Amino acid sequence: MRCRKCPQRAVLQMPRHNTAFCRSCLTEFVRNQVYRAIKKHKMFTTQDRILVAVSGGKDSLTLWEILLKLGYRADALYVDLGIERYSELSREKVERFAKEVAIPCGAKLLVHHVKEQEGAGIRELATLVHRPTCSTCGTIKRYQFNRVAVERDYDVMVTGHNLDDEAARLLGNVLRWQEEYLQKQGPSLPASVEGFAKKVKPLYRLTEREIAAYAVLNRIDYVVEECPMAKGAKMLVYKDVLNRLESESPGTKQAFYWGFLEREEKARPTSLSMSEADQSALHPCPTCGQPTTANVCTYCKMMGRVSEAKTSST
Ligand code: AMP
Ligand code: FES
Ligand code: ZN
Repeated sequence: MRCRKCPQRAVLQMPRHNTAFCRSCLTEFVRNQVYRAIKKHKMFTTQDRILVAVSGGKDSLTLWEILLKLGYRADALYVDLGIERYSELSREKVERFAKEVAIPCGAKLLVHHVKEQEGAGIRELATLVHRPTCSTCGTIKRYQFNRVAVERDYDVMVTGHNLDDEAARLLGNVLRWQEEYLQKQGPSLPASVEGFAKKVKPLYRLTEREIAAYAVLNRIDYVVEECPMAKGAKMLVYKDVLNRLESESPGTKQAFYWGFLEREEKARPTSLSMSEADQSALHPCPTCGQPTTANVCTYCKMMGRVSEAKTSST
């Protein structure tokens, strides 16, 4: 099969756009989708200092590469979760990418070590606080992403969530009508108060399959294996359901998530009042100073339980 844009051989069929691209047209398409996302949602400019959360997976490494190629000032943060082989492998990939691609472009890699800072790896922390590993992991990652971005004066925090991730999360939130989460499902969340970094997702227009093809064709070496912890089992089910719908009817995922965003945009005054509501409910956590709506923030509460559990076991 031929590329729809040039005479080259196509390497990827894209039923949702009823097209097929060769290597260089696919590369251009993917970079262009990222650029459109950045512009459409006014995510950041070339003047801003950007912090990309990189896990070593295809999405975040691809995103870091594209931002650098597009001329943005993007440093990265890797959170080493201390999950034995998986974390070692991920860190190796991130460090190699930084050395070979990012540092030569003037970018920097920051690393947060959970074992050193939180006193134990994710698995042990989760056992100490009697919570599922993935939710313990989510709390720590969200907290550290925000803390590092704010403390080091980055203008915006960027993650590699893609169309599959966002459509699956939307499906989960709609199935349970979790309205408070629905209002925060856009690809760009403003820095609602002092201490909360702006958060954006420039890959929301691209599917996992398109990003994987880009990474392979552009020789981005990423960790293929998934985290060995039961990784949000429900999310995997939602993704599977959406993939089945997509193969029956190409374009379903995009119509579902983008359609949601269009409706959100029309109802903008409501979402503004949401961030105003956030502002009035938030205050600095008495332990760490980061904004929270609770007495003590979720992270500090969790770390308090970790030290209690450690003390009572000695
Ligand atoms: P996931 O929830 O694992 O699909 O990850 C979603 C996004 O969060 C990734 O694309 C990264 O931007 C970020 N992320 C996940 N894990 C890490 C990590 N260990 N260190 C830094 N960023 C991460
Ligand atoms: Fe957090 Fe697996 S990535 S527990
Ligand atoms: Zn706190």
